[in-house]
Parts: sequence; C-alpha cells; structure tokens
Amino acid sequence: MKTSLPSSVLRLIKEIQENVPKNSKELAGILQNHSVIREEILPFHTFNHSAKESYGRRELIRNETFCIYLMSWCPGDFTAIHDHGTTQWGCVLALDDFTHRLYQLSEDKLELKDNRPFLKGQTAAVYNNVIHMMGNAGKNNALSIHIYGTSDSQQQVARDTRIFYPELGQMTYTQGAAYRLHPENMPERLYDFPGLDSAALEDYFNLTEHHRQGVSTFKTLH
Ligand SMILES: [Fe+2]
Repeated sequence: MKTSLPSSVLRLIKEIQENVPKNSKELAGILQNHSVIREEILPFHTFNHSAKESYGRRELIRNETFCIYLMSWCPGDFTAIHDHGTTQWGCVLALDDFTHRLYQLSEDKLELKDNRPFLKGQTAAVYNNVIHMMGNAGKNNALSIHIYGTSDSQQQVARDTRIFYPELGQMTYTQGAAYRLHPENMPERLYDFPGLDSAALEDYFNLTEHHRQGVSTFKTLH
C-alpha cells in the first residue's frame, strides 16, 4: 500500500495551511486551483471496505484546523442522510459522477431541496447545517475528496454529526462516518426525529434499494 501522499494532495494541503479559508466558498476557490488528480490518489482507495461501512473512508490528513478524506464508492454505496456537526467550512470534490440529495427542514419534516447529480470535477459546499446524502448509483467504482474545517480552535472538526435513519424514524450523533443503518454498527443512543415527507421518503428508498437487505436483516434479528 502506498503511504506517501501524491504531489497534488500535498500541494492542496500546503495551500490550505498557508491560506486557511474562512468559509466553504474560499475553500472551493482553492480546490479549483489545486485540484486532486484522480490517477494519483487511486492507490489510496478503500473499495474493499466491509459491508457495515456503506462506503470506503480513508483519512489522508487531520490537524487542528482541517481534515481530508478520500471516500471510495462501489456501485450502490451511499451515505446516510446527515449533517456536518462541528464543521464550519468544507467541500467535497467529485472525482467521478455521483447521485446527490440536499434536504431542508420544513414544518418538522425533512424535504428534498435539490436532487441534481454531483458530477466529476464539481465541488459541493459542506458545513454544519447542510443536510445531504450522496452515493454511487452508477456501474463503476467512484472516488471523492472531502475536506472539513473549523475556525474554532476549541473544537475538533467533523464531530457531533447528525445521522438520520428514515427506516426507524430516528436519528443519532456520531463522531465520524455517516454510514447507513447496519446491524453491526447500530448506535447506542437513538433520538426521535420527525421524518421525511412522503416524496423524500419514496426517493430515499428508491435510491438505497441496494442496501435494504441489511435493514430487513436487522429487523429480523432485533
Ligand atoms: Fe456529508
């Protein structure tokens, strides 16, 4: 396995360290000028992730201000619906094409805000109250770069993330990944949440068909 990061990633890290962005828009500008080369980062993939991890996740760097992950998506891999906790600024860079959903809270329900695809070369802003879900509905493996940052030296980045489980009508908080519901990583503490409106719920189950077997297994066992 390769251990030294590729030059395009090292240049990106150096630029963020020297010109710490104040918001996601500034970070997106940095990414436009210091994009990551897919072929260089490919050896760091985690396409062989376990079934309980609904996508592959590899930390490339973490310091007090920001962290960068390479996410690896096999066909059918999706995140849960989630927000971004303590992240104050951040961006996702698509190295391949993705399915993407943005949600908004309206009258106590999560409803769809945007269902446009997230395409190769595009960036998407992510910060604390952005609620979204992304995944690979294509036929080939896919990669994306995720950067999460904070301007608050008292807080770690990407902590206290809310994960929503429409299957259960409940949510939880995590300190890391936004994996979908799976019997082997069921959180200890669950909280009620109002749920998705009917259109968003139907869309959610259509998107995540590939993983529903795991959910039915959970219901059988518990
Ligand atoms: Fe996210």
